[in-house]
Amino acid sequence: MNAGTATPFNIRFGPKEPRIGSDLWSSEHTSIRSARLVNYWRIVWLVVNPKQAIVLVAAGSGSRLGMGVPKAQVRIGDATILEHALRACLASRIDAHVCVVLPPGDDTLRAVVDHSGGPSVTVVEGGVTRQASVRAGLSTLPSTVRYVLVHDAARALTPPEVFRRVLQTLMDGAEAVTPGVAVADTIKSVSDGCVAATPARAGLRAIQTPQGFTLELLRRVHSETSDADITDDAMLVESLGVPVRVVEGHPEAFKVTTPLDLMLAEALVRRAREHAGEQQ
Ligand code: C5P
Repeated sequence: MNAGTATPFNIRFGPKEPRIGSDLWSSEHTSIRSARLVNYWRIVWLVVNPKQAIVLVAAGSGSRLGMGVPKAQVRIGDATILEHALRACLASRIDAHVCVVLPPGDDTLRAVVDHSGGPSVTVVEGGVTRQASVRAGLSTLPSTVRYVLVHDAARALTPPEVFRRVLQTLMDGAEAVTPGVAVADTIKSVSDGCVAATPARAGLRAIQTPQGFTLELLRRVHSETSDADITDDAMLVESLGVPVRVVEGHPEAFKVTTPLDLMLAEALVRRAREHAGEQQ
């Protein structure tokens, strides 16, 4: 495997990507201080003065998966969906405050965050809809945050480069960014059991997360619009006429929704483990 190549399940071999989102802790500084001391102060700085945040929404019921527990508790190989998703956020090496949104009263998932998180990871209880859960997460973010990435925990195996691409596009000046991938199927809109339209496939994208926004914009659109049919945050921004930039997503950023998705996720995690074993 090439140095630095991303593998499934967020495992990265070879040199690490530089941290993103903080000029203070660049490699110039690490050459003049011990790496451990720099890391300590990086974390202190991140806790008191975060410029980026990730809202990780994990408060869904998982009824379509049919496992009888909240989806974030379902295991993929050796870890729960929530642990994989949290690892994905941390593996992106974005200097971000992470707010995990959990089902109310779920002590099992709270224990997962306590175990796998860190000083810059906090927890808040979610709501009945995804939008209510995102809003709960946004309400807890420190005022120092400029950019926020909203990520579905159900997209548990999202590779680090997708997070980095979204944040970089925000840092380059976009107000709203979403990853997307080309679709393989022909997509038709259907009304009353009949085809109403067939949009040209070349212009279609399956939209993923993390979606990135300036915090000011996302808070504004969440306070102005509330609708049970809102399935992602970009929809809210689109309704205001603000352009949403689309960057390349990744096939492994799929949402674990059905038992078939879970089988695919388990196969990817198994393959990553085998790769990791070969590297040792
Ligand atoms: O239900 P859906 O597939 O749209 O869920 C996408 C993400 O939103 C999942 O990670 C899920 O845990 C989260 N969600 C949430 N609160 C809800 C519903 C969904 O945090 N009430």
